[in-house]
Amino acid sequence: MSDLNIIILAAGKGTRMRSDLPKVLHAVGGKPILQHVIDAARQLNPQKIIVVYGFGGEQVQQQISGEELQWVLQAEQLGTGHAVQQALPLLDDRGATLILLGDVPLVDVAACQEMLQQANQHLVVQTFIKPDPTGYGRIVRNGNNEVVAIVEHKDATEAQRSIQEVNTGIMALPNAQLKSWLAQIKNDNAQQEYYLTDIIALSVNEGRAVLPQVVADAWSVTGINSKLDLQDIEREFQARKATALMTQGVTLFDALRIDIRGNLNCGRDVIIDVNCVFEGDVTLEDGVQIGPHCVIKNAVIAKGSKLAAFTHIDDATVGAGSSIGPFARLRPGTKLSEKTHIGNFVEIKNATVGLGSKVNHLSYVGDASVGANVNIGAGVITCNYDGANKHKTIIEDDVFVGSDTQLVAPVTVGKGATIAAGSTITKHVPADSLTLCRAREQRSIQGWKRPQKVKK
Ligand code: UD1
Ligand code: CA
Repeated sequence: MSDLNIIILAAGKGTRMRSDLPKVLHAVGGKPILQHVIDAARQLNPQKIIVVYGFGGEQVQQQISGEELQWVLQAEQLGTGHAVQQALPLLDDRGATLILLGDVPLVDVAACQEMLQQANQHLVVQTFIKPDPTGYGRIVRNGNNEVVAIVEHKDATEAQRSIQEVNTGIMALPNAQLKSWLAQIKNDNAQQEYYLTDIIALSVNEGRAVLPQVVADAWSVTGINSKLDLQDIEREFQARKATALMTQGVTLFDALRIDIRGNLNCGRDVIIDVNCVFEGDVTLEDGVQIGPHCVIKNAVIAKGSKLAAFTHIDDATVGAGSSIGPFARLRPGTKLSEKTHIGNFVEIKNATVGLGSKVNHLSYVGDASVGANVNIGAGVITCNYDGANKHKTIIEDDVFVGSDTQLVAPVTVGKGATIAAGSTITKHVPADSLTLCRAREQRSIQGWKRPQKVKK
């Protein structure tokens, strides 16, 4: 809708979160609650998105992205009507406004789209049926079943409190009416607040029908007020992600034990074991298998690769047909070619590893370029840091590095070279040679006795 304005109310303090972080910055699926609402709003192609902020304002603006957003301060929280009033100067004269709540992250875009079809003529109010409606504004209907008012819980009579149809807080209406009605609302109610909900009666008084849209999906209108609510929404969000993955053909060993905090793109026949966490943008290509307890962030795992248990990957790519872990750690800047083997207790950082190369046990490879068909033995360390600067290690194709070797960078190991176990390499290693760097001799002292414990 081209002439649509969206106002997101996010000025509430969120006292019940019992946190120094503004409520709307708490994360669902790794993304701030308010960012979920903004991303949903964007899908409606509005002319403008106006965010009414208050508590923790600067922090909120810093952590929420969107250059097109217009921010309006509500310095004092005098009610939802007062909050919308702060945004009025920014509204277009024509068109309609959709009001969303900054603490309702699972907002249903399709339902909003439906509301907007009539919002150029009418006030459309999203309602839902809540068996325990305590705390919510009640939808009051007349004998003809038409909506005539919303009464807040604290202002409601006993009879009104038994009404189970409640206000979700989401509504849409023509801008002209919004401006005229908001000028008329007062704060003569139980909470001495300016209620946005008073505009329902004002519409009816003008002879303009208020259209209810009853939504069935309670999650789409559930607001977050406490850490308990946050947990409920998080689990629902994760359940939806898991369902989408399984629908698409991904095998999850336990749909309740996966956490996706970002975008997880999966090819065909991907298998994911329990308790894995995916953050940022992660791609698992066809046939990838992820073992239990892996944490994978901003990574591409190419076709057919297998990650064993407890593998940690952060900002790295894994070539096709590779085998990683268990207990492997790939840190930022790691680029593994195809058919690589990275084994247990191996850490790789800012390094490329060529086709078919193996680093199988207890090694650190950092700031390095490792060629193809290289074997790096157990306990090999690239000494990349001299205490002040980082230096690079270059290992060319077909090299064999014996166990417990230290490669003191900057250093280059030529193609086809072999380094004997236990060497400390500080100089260039020529190609196709055997290089040793050990204590000159191996001595044995016959009849040597171990020290004995002194008896007291
Ligand atoms: C509001 C509705 C109620 C509805 C309920 C749904 C009113 C008067 N009542 O009640 O009918 O059933 O939401 O959750 O509208 N906010 C501001 N500035 C303020 C006050 C609130 O920005 O001065 C924002 C909050 O950050 C929140 C939203 O408005 O995102 C709703 O505020 P909240 O205090 O939760 O409203 P309720 O009184 O629960
Ligand atoms: Ca509320």
